Amino acid sequence: PAKKHAPTKEVNFTLTQDDIKFFTSILPANGLIIDNEDDLMPYNIDWMRKYRGKSRLVVKPKDTQQVSQILKYCNDNKLAVVPQGGNTGLVGGGVPVFDEIIINTNNLNQIRSFDPISGVLTCDAGCILEVLDRYLAERCYMMPLDLGAKGSCHIGGNVATNAGGLRLLRYGSLHGSILGLEAILPDGTILDNLSTLRKDNTGTLGIITGVSISTPRRPRAVNVAVLGINSFQNVQKAFMTSKDELSEILSAFEFWDMNALNLLKTHNIQGTKFPLEDHYPFYVLVEISGSNKSHDDEKLHNFLENLLTNEIVTNGVVAQDDTQIARFWSLREGIPEACSKAGAVYKYDISVPVPVLYQMVKDVRIRLQSAGVLGEDKLVSDVIGYGHIGDGNLHLNIVANTYDPKVTNLIEPYVYEWTEQHNGSISAEHGLGFMKAEYLGYTKSPSMISLMKQIKQSIDPNGIMNPYKFLPTR
Ligand code: FAD
Ligand code: MLT
Ligand code: ZN
Repeated sequence: PAKKHAPTKEVNFTLTQDDIKFFTSILPANGLIIDNEDDLMPYNIDWMRKYRGKSRLVVKPKDTQQVSQILKYCNDNKLAVVPQGGNTGLVGGGVPVFDEIIINTNNLNQIRSFDPISGVLTCDAGCILEVLDRYLAERCYMMPLDLGAKGSCHIGGNVATNAGGLRLLRYGSLHGSILGLEAILPDGTILDNLSTLRKDNTGTLGIITGVSISTPRRPRAVNVAVLGINSFQNVQKAFMTSKDELSEILSAFEFWDMNALNLLKTHNIQGTKFPLEDHYPFYVLVEISGSNKSHDDEKLHNFLENLLTNEIVTNGVVAQDDTQIARFWSLREGIPEACSKAGAVYKYDISVPVPVLYQMVKDVRIRLQSAGVLGEDKLVSDVIGYGHIGDGNLHLNIVANTYDPKVTNLIEPYVYEWTEQHNGSISAEHGLGFMKAEYLGYTKSPSMISLMKQIKQSIDPNGIMNPYKFLPTR
């Protein structure tokens, strides 16, 4: 990987026969993977194939007690660990940097309870987001978050990263829906706060084993429109108009640029069919969710007509049925996959005020062009912008064949400095992980970082819990 600040190994250990004996004594044969490189590979490497560790051991506990036993043993023997859910994280937080033991939550996958009156769901941390949403759909409820990785990511990973996603605009930050957590501290202590905790950014402090979450009622009427727009100025106008005219039924407002669309076409993602035939510099997906289909659809049609009449949008199409709704969404959700197809993708996830949001993409293009690295047969083939306009969250993706330090040096710390100058955050929703640990100072003050380090030190004095992530070493 192209690492700017290669860390030195802090927690040294060699897995002994006694260690292996201990883990095999508490876990069944399908609860651990030892030393088989092929079997270990999917756990050692991240979704982008950017970060690769060399762990010799993956453990997959099936209940809270086993997680506690594992952590107590690791803490007593100073064995470093990395918690891992669905391994869909985009900042290298869920894979080992060296040979940390991977504690994977695949087998922690039971739904514990659901109350159909309050909508409160309590489940194991390893439940897959989409599985939970399907379970709730049968009961007329839904998960308050949705993201392209829903088929693989775990609710524990979502909570640890406080994932944002496609409907934050409507349902707010995930932590606002979390009523309680069960988490294990590095020394094995079980913190049972399943019904009372409002917030707990676990991540590098402990392992979440159970989550209690308040879920909203599933809307009876949902519809989606895709708009073709000629300028970013007009994307903003369309957003303002949507807030004004769709107000309480607006549930998503997503955008992507023409380069993203071209990439979807190039890689024929999910055999996607395109709702608008011509090409536009920008595309927007607007979703509405309410309780009265004919009333809501009329609102959406009036909204679109108004945008067309006032030349805010150049073209627009409303989905006619559920299949089309899913198809429109698959365009937006397919962009991360399309960006990763060339071989390497540098991902930046920033929050900035919406008026300057797309300027970042333009400035990075100019910078890479002037340095002679952007274009056909060059190091970088494309610079893409998409994201959650409704949350002021841009995903800047720099598409390349391989990770090259020359490219990294051109974009880092440039992107972080740019973000700081525009009063933004370098970690809008993906978290800091390994990728941005050394850059935390662009987002947090020295006194905040010092306090965070003190908290980490008091809870994890041996530094076994997910080392090298999140907090700067220097
Ligand atoms: P992992 O990748 O396994 O881990 C992520 C981090 O959480 C690591 O630091 C890991 O150590 C820690 N962790 C995992 N489980 C636990 C646990 N039980 N206890 C303590 N710590 C734990 N993110 C968004 O915010 N919004 C999006 O819209 C979005 N879309 C995505 C689309 C795609 C196609 C992909 C690949 C990723 C997307 N992501 C998005 C990023 C990622 O999916 C989310 O961050 C997700 O929440 C990670 O969940 P996971 O189970 O895969 O966690
Ligand atoms: C998204 O919004 O699609 C996700 O955050 C993933 C990504 O940024 O690629
Ligand atoms: Zn996102």
